[in-house]
Amino acid sequence: MSTGTDSSHEITLGVNGTARRVRVPGRRLLSDCLRHDLGLTGTHVGCEHGVCGCCTVLLDGRPVRSCLMLAVTADGHEITTVEGLAGPDGMSPVQRAFGESHALQCGFCTPGFLCTVTALLEENPAPTDEEVLEGISGNLCRCTGYQNIVKAVHRAAELRAEES
Ligand code: FES
Ligand code: FES
Repeated sequence: MSTGTDSSHEITLGVNGTARRVRVPGRRLLSDCLRHDLGLTGTHVGCEHGVCGCCTVLLDGRPVRSCLMLAVTADGHEITTVEGLAGPDGMSPVQRAFGESHALQCGFCTPGFLCTVTALLEENPAPTDEEVLEGISGNLCRCTGYQNIVKAVHRAAELRAEES
């Protein structure tokens, strides 16, 4: 990371598999950097203080709230946003399962859920209902009532198992 005279910093983020160099003010939030500096508007911003989980992205494979993190602290790390979840063959199992299970309505919360669930299933490929609820407890959805989201997580687990 280098510091310029205007107190901005040049950082390099690995974003969805590509190294991106960007100059940001020291106080730029990672969520704003992704959306405004890098044009990745799939990461949504709701509460902007760590409550809703809409802004969740993966940092070195682990879910983080990008509204609580400064972009400069992500310098040198690998970030996966919702735009990076699909593989070369199309949507990921988690994305397909959310569609099949009607686990979204307005979709505002969905990018955050998709990132959270992707990490959850990496760590625990066959979670119980309780483990799913615990795993998604940091993401809020105002529309679905969560039942279809829980179904989608189980369906995603099945799809992952079929594909492995
Ligand atoms: S916008 Fe980050 S947790 Fe709500
Ligand atoms: S689908 Fe609308 S907030 Fe979750």
